[in-house]
Amino acid sequence: MAKVYVTRSVPEEGILKLKEEGYDVVVSAKDGVLTKEELINELSKDTYDAVLCLLTDTIDAEVFDAAPEAKVFANYAVGFDNIDVKEAQKRGIVITNTPEVLSDTVAEHTFSLMLAIAHRVVEADTFVRNGEYDGWAPKLLLGTDMSGKTLGIIGAGRIGSRVAYHGFKGFDMNVVYYDIKRNKEIEEAVEAQFNDTVEGVLEQADFISLHVPLLDSTKHLINKDRLSKMKDEAYLVNTSRGGVIDEEALKNALENKKIKGAALDVFENEPKVTPGLADLSNVILTPHIASATEKTRGAMSLLAAQNINAVLKGKKAPNAIT
Ligand code: DGY
Repeated sequence: MAKVYVTRSVPEEGILKLKEEGYDVVVSAKDGVLTKEELINELSKDTYDAVLCLLTDTIDAEVFDAAPEAKVFANYAVGFDNIDVKEAQKRGIVITNTPEVLSDTVAEHTFSLMLAIAHRVVEADTFVRNGEYDGWAPKLLLGTDMSGKTLGIIGAGRIGSRVAYHGFKGFDMNVVYYDIKRNKEIEEAVEAQFNDTVEGVLEQADFISLHVPLLDSTKHLINKDRLSKMKDEAYLVNTSRGGVIDEEALKNALENKKIKGAALDVFENEPKVTPGLADLSNVILTPHIASATEKTRGAMSLLAAQNINAVLKGKKAPNAIT
């Protein structure tokens, strides 16, 4: 019976699927992220044919060495910057991810953040809880309207496209976008205007939303220089990967009111947050939960299992990266 190792407890959909397909499934007993050493140790205890891993696991040559029979590492995430894909390719190991099933959920969370920062929802909630509310007032906690504003999308793939769609349909926003390649579909569907530089989008947009993968070329894509190109009244939202923003530079821009606000679901050195950032009232911070609905996390689990099953049955995985 083929054996699958799961690096942390995930919603049961995928586990049930793997069991139904007849695999012996071992789920890490640790209620937390395995260190690389622990993961290597766990994998070395037995012979595994597949691994279901998470974005918090570092998957590299040493981990592959610890599971020499594993034909597939199925990442429970759409992003796969935690995996040495080139090394996997060299070894003929299939890497898969979980696209599509989370796009609308992440887009919804992006709008939760955008609305919350623009309407000062978190500040207002704290204000009431602290007993500071002593009656309606004309100038109390004034926010910013989103409707009719310009939405800048950096990275117009699956998730970025859904954010563009919701912004256009739901809030009458004008959409401008940057990507390494043009996306004719959103140009047609939401009249999105392509800009061939990141700066071009930053200069025009009132709300900027990041949807690029973390690669060498996108590390610190938003840095001090680019932050200086944003309008003083603009907001920055990040639900992609923390490393896309130079977090220290962002903290300085927020402190100096260079931009109006930011909302982050991801951090450069997760789970750590740059010291001082959490003290600012013009930023909202959520703990990498953009895809965290019961339905979507279940769908991601099932998709990861389907990818494993396909590879172990000698078929092409639906979401193979390598
Ligand atoms: C992903 O899938 O890459 C998200 O960041 C986690 O839900």
